[in-house]
Amino acid sequence: MSRIATIEIDGKKFELPIIKGTENELAIDIKKLRLLTGGITTIDSGFKNTGSCESAITFMDGEKGILRYRGYSIEDLAEKANFLEVAYLLIFGDLPNAEELEKFHNDIKAQAHVDEDVKKIIDGFPKAAHPMGVLSSLTSALVAFNPTSVNVDSEEEMYDAIVRILGKFPVLTAWAYRKQAGLPLEYGDNSLGYVENFVKMMFKKPAAEYEPNQVVIDALNKLLILHADHEQNCSTSTVRIVGSSNAGLFVSLSAGINALWGPLHGGANQAVIEMLEAIKEDGGDTKKYISKAKDKTDSFRLMGFGHRVYKNFDPRAKIIKVAADEVLNALGVDDPILDIAKGLEKEALEDSYFIERKLYPNVDFYSGIIYRALGISTEMFTPMFALGRLPGWIAQWHEMRVRKEPIGRPRQVYIGETYREFISANKR
Ligand code: SDX
Repeated sequence: MSRIATIEIDGKKFELPIIKGTENELAIDIKKLRLLTGGITTIDSGFKNTGSCESAITFMDGEKGILRYRGYSIEDLAEKANFLEVAYLLIFGDLPNAEELEKFHNDIKAQAHVDEDVKKIIDGFPKAAHPMGVLSSLTSALVAFNPTSVNVDSEEEMYDAIVRILGKFPVLTAWAYRKQAGLPLEYGDNSLGYVENFVKMMFKKPAAEYEPNQVVIDALNKLLILHADHEQNCSTSTVRIVGSSNAGLFVSLSAGINALWGPLHGGANQAVIEMLEAIKEDGGDTKKYISKAKDKTDSFRLMGFGHRVYKNFDPRAKIIKVAADEVLNALGVDDPILDIAKGLEKEALEDSYFIERKLYPNVDFYSGIIYRALGISTEMFTPMFALGRLPGWIAQWHEMRVRKEPIGRPRQVYIGETYREFISANKR
């Protein structure tokens, strides 16, 4: 039995259908609202109560702390899967068998290079350029070197664009890091696994034997899986709305990278470490920073805390917190800011301000501590988030295009001047 929502405006009633998802989420379908009411729309700043699409990719339950990719729990995937098979799952809907995964990886490896002229673009950046700015520019620039990946309509054309960017993005990410570190822009080794090859591209030093560290590879594999998708977050919504104008995949992803850069979003992982460092420099006075976070006259926020959807706990943060201890122990790293982070978390979770507002650690609170232990520079934390989120962005863009979603074009409520006669300059 389909449900109906009835709204009454000035005594007149309007009926709107209610749709139900496979996890029993309910939504009022307002696509006919303006027509039915003669022009009345809705408004919802930040889209806190508004769904932008129906999607079959990721399910989140913010109250229960549930996160699933295509029905598989994030706990299972983080523990048992590798990043490339999770990428395949997100994009194509099912976990690949051995043959499907091998073909997917081979198609990606065939694209795991970029035109040598891309190095001239990288050369043009100052060494101090933030790698997120470099990465979004290079991702856009890829269009010039891959013109067949712009107007992609058929499944074949989309598949080709997808394996191209999955092959080239790790190269661009590693080279953005190597540019900043003053290292030569080198490739890794395509005979290695996807994540293993990326780690080699990042850390291979000139004229030195490269020794793989399995702890680093396993930790990164888990972190990339945990970041792979998160339904309609800010950067994914950006990728979707840019792609909805039929802009190509690469430029849609470049827009998503820029949205992710913001410190309220993916940039928070860098901001958390900077915050923890500041607290350490300030003598480790966590109580002072808890008070600052609660003080409405102070712009300071407890970075890595709070979430638009999770109002209980972020399941990714729980997994990363355990992994932080494991990785630092395995690498023999003793990082005092891990203890500061744990102290901050304990104090916040016992404070009524955070409890009332249901503010818990999110994915960014502990991830930077692991990246740091892996030898990744702070400014590279958000690019690592982008590398992890890449398959999710691709999957969401692909779903939007396959479902032929309409161009995104929200309405507004105008609050400016009403009609005014033009006044010539000499009379103003
Ligand atoms: C990511 O959407 C996703 O899925 C994102 C993400 C993904 O995987 O894609 O999960 C990745 O972006 C995680 C979030 C990383 N950002 C941060 O850690 C930055 C710090 N957190 C916040 O700025 C904030 O919590 C947001 C942006 C994450 C969520 O903001 P909302 O949902 O708009 O909530 P809000 O700003 O309206 O806050 C509600 C209340 C306010 O207080 P009151 O006005 O009710 O008194 O909580 C307060 C806020 O001031 N608050 C905080 C706080 N976060 C919210 N107070 C202090 N410190 C914080 N971190």
